[in-house]
Amino acid sequence: MSKRVITGAKPTGELHIGNYFGAMKQSLEMQKGDFQNIIFVPDLHALITVQDKEKLNKSILNIVRAYLALGFDPKKTIIFKQSDIPEVTELTWIFNCLTTMPQLMRGHSFKDAEAKNKEVSVGLFDYPVLMAADILLNQIDIVPVGKDQKQHVEIAREIARKFNNTFGEFFKEPKEYIIEDVETVPGTDGQKMSKSYNNVIPLFASYEEIKKAVMGIPTDSAALADSKNPDTNNIYKIHKLFLTPEQDEIVRAKYLNGGMGYKEAKDMCIESIENFIAPIRDKFNSISDKEVLKVLEQGKKQIRKEVEKTMDKIREAVGTKL
Ligand code: TRP
Repeated sequence: MSKRVITGAKPTGELHIGNYFGAMKQSLEMQKGDFQNIIFVPDLHALITVQDKEKLNKSILNIVRAYLALGFDPKKTIIFKQSDIPEVTELTWIFNCLTTMPQLMRGHSFKDAEAKNKEVSVGLFDYPVLMAADILLNQIDIVPVGKDQKQHVEIAREIARKFNNTFGEFFKEPKEYIIEDVETVPGTDGQKMSKSYNNVIPLFASYEEIKKAVMGIPTDSAALADSKNPDTNNIYKIHKLFLTPEQDEIVRAKYLNGGMGYKEAKDMCIESIENFIAPIRDKFNSISDKEVLKVLEQGKKQIRKEVEKTMDKIREAVGTKL
């Protein structure tokens, strides 16, 4: 049987090209491989921070629309939303009874919130347990995640072990697959691209937005004739993401040879980004809410079939099923 891979598509705000090159692209590759690829929207997790029904509705629809626009195919990839399998909360409760407070007090997100003196909801504290339930209920082998999520997969393994020791061998231990920071995607100011730095290029940006973002990249005072080092140049670093190796060679030469000003460098960069974004932007705008709902409905049916069986066996194992 092919290995099962799960990706959590967080329904929070607008996607940017950093999200794409940092994670979604790799996930798209997975779809081509010999895997059962699963993408799900962790909307119950989102409730920890998004407590606005319009906003949550819209974010769920848009994240699925984005995945579809990028080429995720519901015939190959199961796409569903977390709350469509309420069994996951039942399993979370069972896991809660096997998990200790000190175990969760080591959690990064909890420690972070504590350090910042934020009010910590029980939901935030329990985040890793719900995530363990996502992974284990779906009998996942591999979880591709950024480094920041590694600890969560470790906790899922600890919980699987604890369950197996308590109720008999049942869960296999999932493994993380760490997505190396492709080289952290730079934002328009040279820092890591992040919404909180206000330096993003939206993944479905209009031509005008792309132009504005690229034109806003600060430049030094080098003269047009000067040779420029592409590797320290932020226009180039962003541009490079969109270039084939052959195109890359030509662009690098233009920087190194001199004779190219920053206006030309930016114009070329805008064109490359527009060429990449235009088709996915058109696709994104053409997918109706109705189509998205249909995909989620189909995903729900597929996943429910599996989950109902698994959950029944879990109930048997723990003794709630008579
Ligand atoms: N915690 C993940 C993130 O922040 C999202 C997520 C929730 C997830 N449950 C998951 C990812 C299960 C993989 C598997 O990105």
